[in-house]
Amino acid sequence: MSTVGAESGGSRRYTLGDWNNRSSVRNKKTLYALPPAAEVQLQLRTKGWFPPSFIHYFAHPTIEQASEQTRHRLAANHLVYFLNYTTILEHKIVNRAVETLIHDELRIELPHAMKIAALQLYTDEGYHALFSYELAEQVARFYQMPPWDVPPKRIRLLLDLLDTASDESRPLLWFLVGFVSETIIAKELLDLTGDTLVSTVYQMFREHLEDEARHSRYFSEVFQYLWPRLSSTQQLASASHLIDIILVFSEVDEQWLAASLAGAGISAAEAEHVIQHIVAPQARARRARAGATTTLQAMKRAGFFEQQAHRELFSVAGLIDA
Ligand SMILES: [Fe+2]
Ligand SMILES: [Fe+2]
Repeated sequence: MSTVGAESGGSRRYTLGDWNNRSSVRNKKTLYALPPAAEVQLQLRTKGWFPPSFIHYFAHPTIEQASEQTRHRLAANHLVYFLNYTTILEHKIVNRAVETLIHDELRIELPHAMKIAALQLYTDEGYHALFSYELAEQVARFYQMPPWDVPPKRIRLLLDLLDTASDESRPLLWFLVGFVSETIIAKELLDLTGDTLVSTVYQMFREHLEDEARHSRYFSEVFQYLWPRLSSTQQLASASHLIDIILVFSEVDEQWLAASLAGAGISAAEAEHVIQHIVAPQARARRARAGATTTLQAMKRAGFFEQQAHRELFSVAGLIDA
């Protein structure tokens, strides 16, 4: 077990689980390099770029009935978008949230071990951003994809939300964004390992997932530590913010998706159909709730739902049963 993980005088650990021996940045020598084009083509006979079960619009009849070539191209577009989004998320969102813990921005005293783990997590995310960026570049080159420079919708919405906070309340909002992001992303990546993927892509997701499983536990522990130390006013404001944040993570970037579908040869009318189907309110609420399972469990363990006002807010938002 890690020697940095134990809180002095307490039984609780704020550890990333033997980080020096387990984290990908400290241990993995993977180059995350795609094989030569002919080998990629061979793999694509039986494997894909992204698990279809995890691309919501792949269940739509238009996409289901499209040619294999079109589906591969759409999955590759999805992968490149996801990896570029990950690079931005790790740097500009997660690591900014982690800074609030390392630099005492929350004005709540944190155990020393919790801060050390935050510094380790920060390092992990920097490495994830690097290999996500490098793999995105290679897949984009493989298909000679046109550049897409518009910031991902979820990032835009999160930064807009943070802009609405006062200077005093912003650090806590940053932490909440990090908490939701890190407990949702682990679930996303867990789903990614189950299918058959192009080998480099599979390996990259596996290694990222192993780190993220530890990050998810860490953020859940920190949430549990901080929650009872917040004032009831801070808790109530946080409850609303948590809903906003969870919903952002179920957002679909329609602008990008329309471009992706058009680029793969789907007609504008069909594309519109596909998009309307996945942005429908019920579909979105289902996605939000399914994606936030770990987040909601961590909140439950912290006593969040013991307050009736919090339960009501979450049930009105459709994130828990009434
Ligand atoms: Fe990560
Ligand atoms: Fe992470």
